[in-house]
Amino acid sequence: MVRRFYMLTNMIYFANSLTILITFFLLASAPTLGSQGTQSAQSTQKRPDAPQLAPYVPTGHDVVDRMLSLAGVTKADFVVDLGCGDGRIPIAAAKKYGARGLGVDIDPVRIQEANANLKAAGVQNLVEFRLQDALTTDVSNATVVTTFLLSASNLRLRPILTKQLKPGARIVTNTFSMGDWTPAKTDTFVDATGRTRTLYLYVADGKVRQ
Ligand SMILES: C[S@@+](CC[C@H](N)C(=O)[O-])C[C@H]1O[C@@H](n2cnc3c(N)ncnc32)[C@H](O)[C@@H]1O
Repeated sequence: MVRRFYMLTNMIYFANSLTILITFFLLASAPTLGSQGTQSAQSTQKRPDAPQLAPYVPTGHDVVDRMLSLAGVTKADFVVDLGCGDGRIPIAAAKKYGARGLGVDIDPVRIQEANANLKAAGVQNLVEFRLQDALTTDVSNATVVTTFLLSASNLRLRPILTKQLKPGARIVTNTFSMGDWTPAKTDTFVDATGRTRTLYLYVADGKVRQ
């Protein structure tokens, strides 16, 4: 009888120890499995094989406001930012004016940031971000295109934009112009960092400019 009691006690002790061991293993491995899941989600977002049109330098929020104002953005617009970084231009256009927007970038980290900012801004119904090369992005439905890309990159985009955009669509470039295409308007001012900055406004007129 006593022997049976000891055997039973040992079995209960063994079962308890096993439960504790399994619980510990599950708790310890949970965060690791979670972060592995995130890592694999990130690594599936491969950078497209595309030319580097500019390094990442975000436009100051005060300058974003002036770009949108130079373009005369309204609720009726579809704003496309080519090389969108953290998405601040289409997000601001949606928040301030209720405009629809698209941002494309070749850097998966930027697209992740843009999507996080989009969620925080609560305008997911208006704006979309894509991991995509600006040079192969369809802009035919855009009514406003914005860029903060190097001069040579703007010149690569020029024939694409002027071919696809409908007459009346506006292009606003930050700091770097579109070469010998005369802008409809420029805006030169001292920005919040104290730098003198120029923005260029171009209006598509149906003429393809190489
Ligand atoms: C100067 S930042 C401008 C970011 C944003 N538009 C802004 O004004 O804050 C240029 C961005 O272009 C992106 N970029 C460079 N080459 C690109 C390409 N071929 N297609 C799309 N994006 C590109 C970079 O990853 C970077 O985020």
